[in-house]
Amino acid sequence: MPYNKSPECLDLENLLGITEELNHIKDIDSLLDHILHNARQFCKAEAGSIFLREKDHLVFSYVQNDVLVKREKNYNKRIYDKFTIPINRESIAGYVADTGKPLKIDDVYAIDSSVPYSFNGSFDEMSNYKTVSMLTIPLITSRDNITGVIQIINPKLENNVTVFTDIHCQYVTFLANNASVAIERAQMTREIILRMIRMAELRDPKETGAHVNRVGAYSIEIYDRIAQKRGESAETIRRTKDHLRIAAMLHDVGKVAISDTILKKPARLNEEEFKIMQTHCVSGADLFEGNVSDLDKLSTQIALTHHEKYDGSGYPNGLEGKLIPLPGKIVALADVYDALISKRVYKEEWPEEEVLNHIKSESGKHFDPEVVEAFFDVHDILKAVGKRYPDK
Ligand code: C2E
Ligand code: SIN
Ligand code: SIN
Ligand code: FE
Ligand code: FE
Repeated sequence: MPYNKSPECLDLENLLGITEELNHIKDIDSLLDHILHNARQFCKAEAGSIFLREKDHLVFSYVQNDVLVKREKNYNKRIYDKFTIPINRESIAGYVADTGKPLKIDDVYAIDSSVPYSFNGSFDEMSNYKTVSMLTIPLITSRDNITGVIQIINPKLENNVTVFTDIHCQYVTFLANNASVAIERAQMTREIILRMIRMAELRDPKETGAHVNRVGAYSIEIYDRIAQKRGESAETIRRTKDHLRIAAMLHDVGKVAISDTILKKPARLNEEEFKIMQTHCVSGADLFEGNVSDLDKLSTQIALTHHEKYDGSGYPNGLEGKLIPLPGKIVALADVYDALISKRVYKEEWPEEEVLNHIKSESGKHFDPEVVEAFFDVHDILKAVGKRYPDK
């Protein structure tokens, strides 16, 4: 970890290294996670969040809090919270987005009454956490576009909460300037992927988008749990999650080759139709042919194996558990879970309890028991994902 020494001055080489790293991250959530982690590490700050701009609002988009992580099981579900604040001068984040100027506050509970903004203490109240000092920096691209704001909370010096320094402010500003471009790029990647999927599924675009956003998020949360249990390194986990979310979102792009009459049939498929439907795995894998990048390889693997079953009764190749790659097994469960709890043209949604019983009973048959165990470990996070990306 590059920033354990206390920072007397900005280390340019490190900063350039970080910019370089940011430019290699493809997934928007991985990117926000990385930026926030890095800013907090430099300031030794307990907590932080990132708000991204959507039109004239800021959308709460990412949060980290070391104190609450230790206190709450599955704190991660909070990263799927979604609320918005208007861009105006009444809130701290809104003020910074509106003015484009950084704001360093030593005690949010003692803000001078002469300024227009005030601290909203409802999050502190809700989570029983005490915010003291806060550094809020705009995320601005070179074209002077406000992408959002990054907010860092409670820096520590020898275990005590202290105030932010000018060096902190300079560092986070530098990071924010470089992060903005990477954020815009990653947002565009996410949008292009969603468009590809809409074309592939030729369905109600909103429904499809929500489904793949959920499957992507479920997959990385299940993976995270498995990887933690297996003792994988933080670096491996971070890299894998970056690619896994995107590849999992693309699991069904092969449906682009399936005719509308089969895909949208508002009834059960007959045997012949289902045979045709099953070709979506191979068609999907073919789309990533060439396999130049790790992301292509993972996307091929997932498209090809997400309908294989642990007991060897799946398709297209009837592979048994040991031969099915872990990402394929994870997406298999994420996909079925989402298919069952949702309404589809051909089926009603199932009550949650039935879905959970089904998954339990298919452990060792359709699903890998290790994946099922991780699924139940993170089930409350998966429910938060469902709230973040609702249908319709
Ligand atoms: P999908 O809708 O994303 O469903 C993914 C998987 O969830 C299914 O893979 C299946 O394993 C599971 N699943 C979905 N609904 C049910 C259900 O009612 N009961 C059970 N036990 N499992 C369920 P599968 O079967 O290989 O289907 C792949 C894709 O084929 C589906 O993706 C869907 O697009 C299409 N499909 C399957 N059956 C039908 C159907 O009867 N009518 C139509 N229109 N499409 C179907
Ligand atoms: C604000 O910046 O005022 C809203 C977020 C917060 O209070 O932490
Ligand atoms: C479906 O036909 O909806 C999926 C196949 C199954 O029910 O197992
Ligand atoms: Fe599929
Ligand atoms: Fe699916």
